Amino acid sequence: MPTPTEHVARALRDITVPRTPERVARGQYLTEGLLQCFVCHSERDWTKPGAPPVPATKGAGAVWLSKPWLVAVNLTPDVETGIGRWTDDMLLRAICEGIGHDGRTLHPQMWYSSFRALPDEDAEAVVAYLRSLKPIRRSLPQTRIPEDEAKDLDVPEPLMAPVPLVTSHDVVQKGRHLALLADCAGCHTSWYTPKNPGLFGGGNLVTRGERKSYSSNLTSDPSGLAHYDENIFREVMRTGQAKGRELSPIMPWTVFKNLSDDDLNALFAYLGAVTPAKHVIDNIDAPSACTICGGVHPLGKYNRPRQRTLVNYHIEMVESGSARIGLMTDSGFAR
Ligand code: HEC
Ligand code: HEC
Repeated sequence: MPTPTEHVARALRDITVPRTPERVARGQYLTEGLLQCFVCHSERDWTKPGAPPVPATKGAGAVWLSKPWLVAVNLTPDVETGIGRWTDDMLLRAICEGIGHDGRTLHPQMWYSSFRALPDEDAEAVVAYLRSLKPIRRSLPQTRIPEDEAKDLDVPEPLMAPVPLVTSHDVVQKGRHLALLADCAGCHTSWYTPKNPGLFGGGNLVTRGERKSYSSNLTSDPSGLAHYDENIFREVMRTGQAKGRELSPIMPWTVFKNLSDDDLNALFAYLGAVTPAKHVIDNIDAPSACTICGGVHPLGKYNRPRQRTLVNYHIEMVESGSARIGLMTDSGFAR
């Protein structure tokens, strides 16, 4: 078993990404939308709805709020403090394969395991866009991962084959790809509770510094988004308002608002196709014990799995049109 210090990083290639206006525009759409790069690589203005990047630091890096040793680098082309001296392939390898410009294994808070699914053309578009930014001089410390955390880091695997564009006209497949890139399931699945109520079943406690928010159940179950349609979904993703309530800025709608109607509709179609998870959760009530996930969260006490007699199992199947109802555990899902 290789340890994170002995990863197999692939050799760097001597390549230059084409910087055509089309590439730059595509890169901007991805960077400032689905991929949320500047949500992490900027200081955020927490006084504004959705906590957008502070303009003077946009893309110019930030120290991770709850981990002062973790630094999301300055991604502007400044030669002293940004990516100005790094090669295109150093950036591609960092973004999609988790190996830093200096050959170090990156911390998983950089979502390289999701960005790994980026088609080559899109990854190159992101690099072309970063190169087009106005350089901002902003010196930040370097990441120093403490030893006890470093030994537990995932070992990233190099990408050895080209990643082609997703050309499927199947809207659910398209939405699945978009959701993977945006890591929606990373936040919206209860990965750390004793039981996992299901992919997109919500309940993960996401923290940013002192701010905390429990993620919502995004499945089509009545305890999830059964009351949504495409229009409501687009509205929530663009305004951060759900049922008259302002969502926590931990939900990155400040960049999802830039997604096209087509992309948002595809995401919604995919969520509708995910196996419904029964798991009531919100952020208004006081936390209470939940028998479905085994954790403690708002509305937890209302989650009482029904007795599975043959009779009500049948009714459930009719209600949801699916025979795949049931409690799922971690091992049932590939991420
Ligand atoms: C959820 C937060 C988050 C998102 C989203 C994110 N990053 Fe990062 N990124 C980080 C953190 C934190 C680090 C530092 C990791 C480390 O030093 O171990 C990092 C590191 C990097 C590095 C490596 C720097 C080096 O030392 O070589 C690059 C390049 C990078 N990010 C680019 C991007 C781009 C481009 C995007 C969007 C496609 C992006 N990041 C999205 C948090 C994020
Ligand atoms: C960084 C973590 C994070 C990511 C990534 C994320 N979300 Fe969220 N999302 C949250 C949290 C936390 C909430 C709950 C906010 C609240 O209740 O105030 C939320 C709420 C929502 C809601 C509102 C649901 C309701 O209660 O009515 C929708 C819709 C949503 N997210 C969709 C998505 C989609 C689609 C993606 C991927 C494109 C995504 N989210 C990615 C953290 C995240």
